[in-house]
Amino acid sequence: MESPLALAARLAGGTCAGLGDVYRSGLGQFMTPPRVAGLLADMFAFGEEDVRLLDLGAGVGALTAAFVEKVLACKRKPRSLQLTAWEVEEAFIEPLDQVLAECVEAGRAAGVPTSYVLNRGDALRGAAELIQQDELFTAPRKSHGFTHAIMNPPYRKINADSEARLLLRRAGLETSNLYPGFLWLAARLLEPNGQMVAITPRSFCNGPYFLPFREQFFGQMSVERLHVFDKRNALFAGDEVLQENLIMVARRGARPPASVVLSSSDGLLPGNARMRSVPYSRVLDPADTGKVLHLALDATDDDARGAVMGLPAHLSELGVTVSTGRVVDFRARDFLRKAPSEDTVPLIYPVHFNGGCVHWPCSESRKPNALLAVPETEDLMVPNGVYVLVKRFTAKEERRRVVATVFRPEGNLAGFASVGFENHLNYFHHQGGGLDARLAEGLAVFLNSTVVDAFFRQFSGHTQVNATDLRCLRYPSKVQLYKLAESPAAGTRDQAAIDSAVETMLQRSQR
Ligand SMILES: C[S@@+](CC[C@H](N)C(=O)[O-])C[C@H]1O[C@@H](n2cnc3c(N)ncnc32)[C@H](O)[C@@H]1O
Repeated sequence: MESPLALAARLAGGTCAGLGDVYRSGLGQFMTPPRVAGLLADMFAFGEEDVRLLDLGAGVGALTAAFVEKVLACKRKPRSLQLTAWEVEEAFIEPLDQVLAECVEAGRAAGVPTSYVLNRGDALRGAAELIQQDELFTAPRKSHGFTHAIMNPPYRKINADSEARLLLRRAGLETSNLYPGFLWLAARLLEPNGQMVAITPRSFCNGPYFLPFREQFFGQMSVERLHVFDKRNALFAGDEVLQENLIMVARRGARPPASVVLSSSDGLLPGNARMRSVPYSRVLDPADTGKVLHLALDATDDDARGAVMGLPAHLSELGVTVSTGRVVDFRARDFLRKAPSEDTVPLIYPVHFNGGCVHWPCSESRKPNALLAVPETEDLMVPNGVYVLVKRFTAKEERRRVVATVFRPEGNLAGFASVGFENHLNYFHHQGGGLDARLAEGLAVFLNSTVVDAFFRQFSGHTQVNATDLRCLRYPSKVQLYKLAESPAAGTRDQAAIDSAVETMLQRSQR
C-alpha cells in the first residue's frame, strides 16, 4: 500500500507539472519535498491526546501526510486525529482529497479514529472568519482549539489595498507579505500550548517590514526551536527559491521556555545536523524593541556576537547616524541624467563602488550619474563631504553581506556643493552632513571585517542590509576607530589586513 506521503509526492509531481512556472510564481508556492515534510513532522512533540491538526495552504497535503505518518508511528498514539486543511487552488483539491482519505485509512489501520475537513477557498478569509466568531464569545476568550499546526505558507507580496491585507488587519496584523499572515492566523487558531511547525523564508527574523509581525506573533507564541539550512537552494532544488529557509517550532503561550534549540544542516544530507541549546534571551532579547531573532549556531558565532556586542559605543554616541539613500530613482525620474553637466550634482548608485572605492562617473553602466540641481531635488541631496556607504543589497554569490566604502569629495567628485545617494545604499553621516575623515575610514574598516559579517549573518538571512540592522550593531569607540584608520587595513580591500586590524583592536579592548 502506498503511504499518504508517497501518494502526496506522486500527486504533487503530476499536478505541479501541469500548472507551469507562471502559475507557481503567481501564487508564491513551492511544494514541500517528502524529506523536508518528514523533517517538519519530526519536530513536533506528540502525546496521547485528541490531536486536531491545522494545515493552511495545504497544497496536495504533503505536510499533513507526513504529520499523520509520524504521529501514528509513535509508541503512544493519539486518542483521535482530526485533520483540517485549507487550499485555494482548484487543481489541488482532488489530489488533496485523495491524500486526506489515505490519511484516514492509515489512522484506521493503526487503530486511531481519524477524520478530515477539506476547506476549498481562501484560507485567510476562512481563518479570519473563525477568529471573528471566537471574538463574539466573551471571556474566557476561546481559541479554535487546534492542538497542532503545520505549514509551508505561500510567500508573496500583498498590496496595500487588497482584500488579504484588510482581512489580516482585521485579525490584528499589518503585513505586506502573505506568509507572516498565514503564521499569524494559525497562531490565533491554536489552543493554549498548541504547537506550530512552519517552514518559511528567514526574512521575518529582522528588519522593519516584519517588526509588526514579530511584535504580534512573539507576544502570543514562544519559539522552541529554529532550524536553518546552510546552503541556499538545497531544499527546493527544482524550484529556484533564492531566500534562505528556516523551520520554526513555536508554542502558543505567553511564557517563553528557558532555552531554544538552534540547529542547522547542509541541505537535507542525513546525519549532518548540528544542534545546540541557548538561553531564550540570546535568541529573542526581551529588552530589544526591534524584536530581532539572533541565531548563533556555534561557538564561532558566539565569539562574533560577544566581540561586537561587547564594543563600547552605540552609533549615536559617536555622533553618527545611518540612513537610506534619499533618491528613489523611479520617483525622481525627471531629474536623473546619464551624464553630468553644469546644472547637476553627482548621483551615487552601488554600481559606483563595485570595486571597493568610488568610481564616478561610470560610463559602462546604464545607471544615471547625475541629479539635476533644482529646488525640487534639494531635499534629495546631502552636502558634499566624507561619508561611509554600505550597499543595501548584495548579490547572492557575494562573499560578504556588509560591503562598506568611504565616499570622499575628491578627484572627479571635488568641487560640488552637494551629492545625491540613491536608495539602494545606506550612508553614514553626521547630522545630515559629512563625517570626520578618520572616523569614516575607521568605520569602513570595522564594517568590512569578517567578525561584523559573521555577527550580521546571525540575525539576517537575506541579502538585504537595512539601516535599522546597522543601527543595532555596537561600534568601537572614536579612539579605536581612529586607530583602525591608521592601520594598514585602511583604504584597502585586503580582508586579511582588515581582520587583523579589527582583531588587534578587539584584543586590546578586552584587556
Ligand atoms: C508553499 S505552497 C505549500 C503547499 C503545501 N503545504 C506543501 O507544503 O507542499 C502554499 C500553498 O498555499 C496555497 N495558497 C495560496 N494562497 C492561498 C490562500 N489564500 N488560501 C489557501 N491556500 C492558499 C497554494 O495554492 C499552495 O498550495
